[in-house]
Amino acid sequence: MLIDLASLNTMQKQAWLQHAVAPRPIAFVSTQDAEGNVNLSPFSFFNLFSSNPPILVFSPSRRARDGSTKHTLENIREVPECVVHICDYAMVQQMSLSSCEYGKGVNEFIKAGFDAEPATKVRVPMVKQARVKMECTVRDIISLGEEGGAGQLVLAEVLCMHVDESILNAEGNMIDQTKTDWVARMGGDWYSRATRESMFQVPKPNTQLGIGIDQLPQSIKNSRILTGNHLGMLANVHQFPEVDPAFEHDHVKQIVQYYSLNPEEMEAELHKLAAQLLDNGAITEAWQVLLSGEPLV
Ligand SMILES: Cc1cc2nc3c(=O)[nH]c(=O)nc-3n(C[C@H](O)[C@H](O)[C@H](O)COP(=O)(O)O)c2cc1C
Repeated sequence: MLIDLASLNTMQKQAWLQHAVAPRPIAFVSTQDAEGNVNLSPFSFFNLFSSNPPILVFSPSRRARDGSTKHTLENIREVPECVVHICDYAMVQQMSLSSCEYGKGVNEFIKAGFDAEPATKVRVPMVKQARVKMECTVRDIISLGEEGGAGQLVLAEVLCMHVDESILNAEGNMIDQTKTDWVARMGGDWYSRATRESMFQVPKPNTQLGIGIDQLPQSIKNSRILTGNHLGMLANVHQFPEVDPAFEHDHVKQIVQYYSLNPEEMEAELHKLAAQLLDNGAITEAWQVLLSGEPLV
C-alpha cells in the first residue's frame, strides 16, 4: 500500500507516521515560566542526537487542532532550561495523566501526583520518582512551521544526569539495561515495555569489517531455511571461515551419512542445524556445520 502524505490531513499523517516510527522513547519534561509556574509534560518525538555536545531533541508540536503552541514551548522561550526524565513502567499511568490539557500555570506535578525536588544546575524542579533525570539548558528552538502539527524542535544540552542506583549494574559503573523497564510510545494507545524478555543483543560490528552477504556462497545466500537474520550473523565474520578438521558434531555425521544420496535434503538438514546453532549465538559452529556439506559454490 502506498501512502501519499500530501493527500492526507494532519491527523491522518500523524497516525500513519506514529504507527510506523515506533516504539519511541518518552521524554518527561519539566519546565517553568518567568513567574516560576512549573509544567510537566511527556513527549515521544524525542531522542538523543549528539554526545559531544550532549544534545537531546524533543518536539512540543503545534496542536493539530488549532495550531496553538504548548505550554512547555512557551515556558522554554521564557526560561531556556528543562529537566528531561526518562519514563519507566512504574510511572506510565501518571505520566499519561500529566498529558491532559490542563490550563497554563497548572502544575502537573500536583495533578499527576509526582514529588518535585530541586535540581542542581537549573531552576526547574525534577520529578523525584524518575530513575533518570537530565538537567538541561536549551541551546536552540527550531520551528518547522506555524500550521497545526508543525514540530518545534527543542535542542537541549544535558548538563548533568541523575541515575538511580537501582538501575546500575553490579559494578555500579553503568546502567544495566535489563533493570530499566523503560516504556516507549507506539501508534494509537499502544506502548511497549523494555523488559528482560523483550531484549536481545546484537554484537556491534566495529572497525573490523564483516565479510558481507555478497561474499556468502550461493547455497547459503539462497537457502530456503536460513533467514535474513541468520545470513546477517554469518556475514558478520571478519574473514571467510576455513574448515576446521578438529570440528566434530554427531548430528552432522548422521546427516552426512543418512542423506549421502540426496544432496538437496542433506543441505536442508545442515541448514536447519546451522539455524538452530545461530539462534543460540554459536556462529563459529554454525559455519563449520555449513562447511561440512557439499562443496560450497
Ligand atoms: C506518551 C505521550 C507522548 C507524547 N508526545 C508528544 C510529542 O512528542 N509532541 C507533542 O507535541 N505532544 C506529545 N504528547 C502530548 C502532550 O504531552 C500534551 O499535548 C501535553 O498536554 C502538552 O502539555 P503542555 O501544553 O503543558 O506543554 C504526548 C503525550 C503522551 C501521553
